[in-house]
Amino acid sequence: MLERYPSAPRALATPPPGSGLKPVMGDFGPPGIGHIVGQLADPIGFSRKRMRQFGPVQWSGGFGRRIVGLLSPEAVEELVLDRQHVWSAEQGYDFLIGPFFRGGILLRDFDEHAFHRRILQQAFTRSRLIGYLDLTTPRIARGVDGWRPGPRFPLYDHVKAMLLEQATVVFAGAELGPEATRLGHAFEDAVRGGQAMMRFNVPGGTWSRGLRGRQLLLEYFRRELPARRTGDGDDLFSVLCHAETEDGESFSDTDIVDHMIFVMMAAHDTSTNAISMMSYELARNPWWQERLRAESQALGKPTLDYADLDRLTGLELAFKETLRMYAPVGQLVRESIADTEISGYYIPKGTLTISGPYAMMRAAEYWKNPDVFDPERFGPERAEDKSHRFAWPPFGGGAHKCIGRYFGGMTVKATMHRMLLNYRWSVPRDYRVPLVAGTGPQPADGLPITLEKL
Ligand code: HEM
Repeated sequence: MLERYPSAPRALATPPPGSGLKPVMGDFGPPGIGHIVGQLADPIGFSRKRMRQFGPVQWSGGFGRRIVGLLSPEAVEELVLDRQHVWSAEQGYDFLIGPFFRGGILLRDFDEHAFHRRILQQAFTRSRLIGYLDLTTPRIARGVDGWRPGPRFPLYDHVKAMLLEQATVVFAGAELGPEATRLGHAFEDAVRGGQAMMRFNVPGGTWSRGLRGRQLLLEYFRRELPARRTGDGDDLFSVLCHAETEDGESFSDTDIVDHMIFVMMAAHDTSTNAISMMSYELARNPWWQERLRAESQALGKPTLDYADLDRLTGLELAFKETLRMYAPVGQLVRESIADTEISGYYIPKGTLTISGPYAMMRAAEYWKNPDVFDPERFGPERAEDKSHRFAWPPFGGGAHKCIGRYFGGMTVKATMHRMLLNYRWSVPRDYRVPLVAGTGPQPADGLPITLEKL
């Protein structure tokens, strides 16, 4: 539906008489595209403006639809805890990334989701995580040690390549070589496909490359599956082949392939962005970089064991602050499957709804000096994240809460520890990293830093 622009604010829908509910107000934006371009170009600025204009529950146009945006911790809580079972993650995400990631755990709902989550959880137990860390650590150490220091070192590009290699080995159990490289590219294409602005299958376009990428991944996992079923590897693929709940529930071959493709996607960009953005802030805040380096040196170990993860308390604060400032999953998406309400606003069935942890964790309503890197805000004296249970939701919440949050923390900390021990890095005082929207904000310029060997 084309709407006129500039358009006067109007109600998303009229609340049922006598319900006491308020209408969600908003406007569509420029015809056809709606506000999506402005929103992607400056998500924080856009959200601040919407908050001032309409408050924390409002709607705007995007992808030809009216999309409700939620910007308060209360609204995010209601959405993800979904006490009425009216919010479908499957329908919400299917609209955006379905063709590439259908069958993944986040694209399943309610009882079916709970069934799959019980089995998937077996692959994320403490002992499994220790196994993955053992596989990961030497690769991260080798990867970081192999960087060539110098000016304009594109950190983001190097972290991305290193974690892609790590993922093909630790997740897919692939040997490094041309096969792993092909797999990495296919995976990259599938992820980009889901983020395409032109959402149809034009040959050579991002969307069609994404579909080809998914096809390649499907073929690889289907071909390798019988060997993983009979083997006893510690990689995630092998683990999923043998995962079983106490009640004997396990995955079919098709489930395993779908979960593998989704989990690799969920892990990769998120960890890459967290490492890159933490490095960026540590480059701009040398005092914090030195503090974390001293902490890592005091540990007296070149690599981290599982038990060390909680010992690096400064690194934990900096990690939390990085997730607050640059939420690697910037938005949580759902669609209502019945008429419902959020924070007293009426939301009809079939409404695509996006809550924005990224923008919300930068809102002055909930955080002091929200654009300043200040890890101590998470310390026990200030505990700004405790103002509301969902003031700091970088891993979401409720049934779909990130299953890989400890895995992600492990990867980020193992990488940062090694970087801090090996290098010192900086950026020019006036440098501000340009960000583009992926799953969350990510560097658009490869993040050039000056990397110095210690
Ligand atoms: C810093 C790193 C990470 C962040 C910030 C992050 C964030 C999130 C968020 C916000 C969600 C919820 C999405 C929603 O409710 O709509 C989620 C779900 C998920 N994440 Fe993560 N994630 C990270 C790392 C990882 C890693 C390393 C893995 C796998 C090893 C992973 C696997 C998943 C999976 C499978 C889901 C879907 C869970 C479900 O639907 O039940 N994530 N993540």
